[in-house]
Order: sequence, then C-alpha cells, then structure tokens
Amino acid sequence: MSFENLSIEREGAVAILTINRPAVLNALNTRTLDELGRAILELTHDETIRAVLLTGAGEKSFVAGADINELAVQSPTGGREHAIRGQHVLDLIEHMGKPVIAAINGYALGGGCELAMACTLRMAADTARLGQPEVNLGIIPGYAGTQRLARIVGKGRALELLLSGDQISAQEAHRLGLVNRLVPAAELMAEARKLAATLAAKAPIAIRYILDAVNSGLEMPSAQAQVFEATLFGLVASTDDMREGTAAFLEKRKPAFKGR
Ligand code: COA
Repeated sequence: MSFENLSIEREGAVAILTINRPAVLNALNTRTLDELGRAILELTHDETIRAVLLTGAGEKSFVAGADINELAVQSPTGGREHAIRGQHVLDLIEHMGKPVIAAINGYALGGGCELAMACTLRMAADTARLGQPEVNLGIIPGYAGTQRLARIVGKGRALELLLSGDQISAQEAHRLGLVNRLVPAAELMAEARKLAATLAAKAPIAIRYILDAVNSGLEMPSAQAQVFEATLFGLVASTDDMREGTAAFLEKRKPAFKGR
C-alpha cells in the first residue's frame, strides 16, 4: 500500500508509522487522516506485526493539529463529518488490539495531542510541547479530545488545559500523567523502539485481551466489567501461549509466544 503523507517501516514485529508532512509540522488534513485509517487497518490485520510506533517526520513536530486551512472553510455539516471521521480513525488506533506507542518528538497540539491520547502509551522527548489550543481558534476539539483528556488526566486538569488552550512542556505533561515516559530528545526513537520490541515479544492474545478489558471495561458498570474480565481470563486458558508461558516459568526459561 502506498501513501502520500505517511510512511510505514517494518522492523521485525514492530511497524514504525511516520506522519510525513513536515512543511506544515505534520498537520492532519483529510487525506492524511484517511491514509492513517487505511494504514491502521492494514497493520491490525497483519499478524506479523505485534506493536506499532507512531511518530512525526522531522525534528520539530509530532503533529501540530488538524490542518487549519481546512478548518477555516468548513461548513457546519462538513465540520460534523470531519469530527466523526477523525474520531473513527482514532478509535481504530485505540481498538486495534496491539500496543501503539506514540513517540512524541515535538509539537503534539490539538488533533496531534488527541492522536497521541488514542495511542496505548505516550513517550515524549524532553523538548516536546503538548496542548489543546482549539479554543484560541474559536473552536473545540473534535477528535474526542474532550473525552480522552479527561479520562487520562482527570476532569479538573483536562478542563484547565482545554479552557486555557495553553501549551505545556513535556515535563509538565509527564507530571500530569498525560505522558507515560519522558526521555532526552536524542534517545526518543531508540527508547521507543526498545519499548515496542519488548511489548511485541509478549503474548499477543493476552495483550489484546488486556487492552479490551481496560478499554471496553471502562465503558461498563464495574460489576459487568469484572464479569467481562473473568470471561477473557477464562478464554486465555484455551491458548497455546498460556501453556507456553506457564511452562517456561516452571522450566526456568524464556517463553516463545506464538499468538495462538
Ligand atoms: N495546520 C496547518 N498548517 C500548520 C499547522 C496546522 N495545524 N501548524 C503549523 N502549520 C504550518 C504553518 O502555517 C507554517 O506554514 P508556512 O511555512 O507556510 O507559514 C508551517 O506549518 C510552520 O509553522 P510555524 O507556525 O511557522 O512554526 P513555529 O515554530 O513558528 O510555530 C507552532 C509552531 C506549532 C506553535 C505553530 O505552528 C502553531 O501554533 N500551529 C497551530 C497549532 C494549533 O492550533 N493546532 C490545533 C489545530 S485544531
């Protein structure tokens, strides 16, 4: 599959997906969002890929938001469709059943911060800047940023960021829990690759069920979510990987998981 504004590199079981519009700080226009959706679907169905690393091209930016040239001329119905399309693509990331690590190499603003929040984990360069500046443009987030930000950092902190529109440093984002790990900029990609490779070596079905138990479970009443967790716990007992993982522990060796 070929893309104009994205590149996919495969390194063993890890796919490195790079948003590639550096002249506009990797802003997400409609074409880029569509390409991202297609790439995620392709990687979801590719059994050789067990983890994804998402980053932005160039030194300066992860993604500096939705493309403001498109926002400036949108109609009410077009705006609604745009938001639904963006939400759908980000949902594909959250629900792909594989860990997706955002390697935040610079600005992650607006749709860029929303994109990072749809990823499983966020690792940021110490030079990165994050924020939801939509209010400064007279608009609001439309790729579920109002929802994911509040779930990740809590309602009070989310409202402060959303209402002020302020950019925050990677250090502050780490302190708030918006970013899982903070690393020196020069080490970002090496560290993100290392983390992706570590996660890619885990039991893929267990990884998928953990993601599902947390993502779907958070949308259910707790008692129902616990029944869901127990059902998935029972289901993994049917896998070769459970037998391999437990046997490897008892035989004092490393497990080799096959995703079966
Ligand atoms: N959409 C479209 N173009 C964008 C963009 C976006 N979200 N963000 C940056 N660009 C473009 C700029 O217009 C500029 O284009 P030009 O060279 O043709 O003038 C180019 O990318 C470089 O950006 P510039 O603003 O010159 O870089 P900077 O280092 O001075 O500032 C930012 C960097 C990220 C602070 C600034 O670009 C910015 O505020 N971007 C918009 C962020 C935003 O509001 N995002 C949310 C959108 S909902």
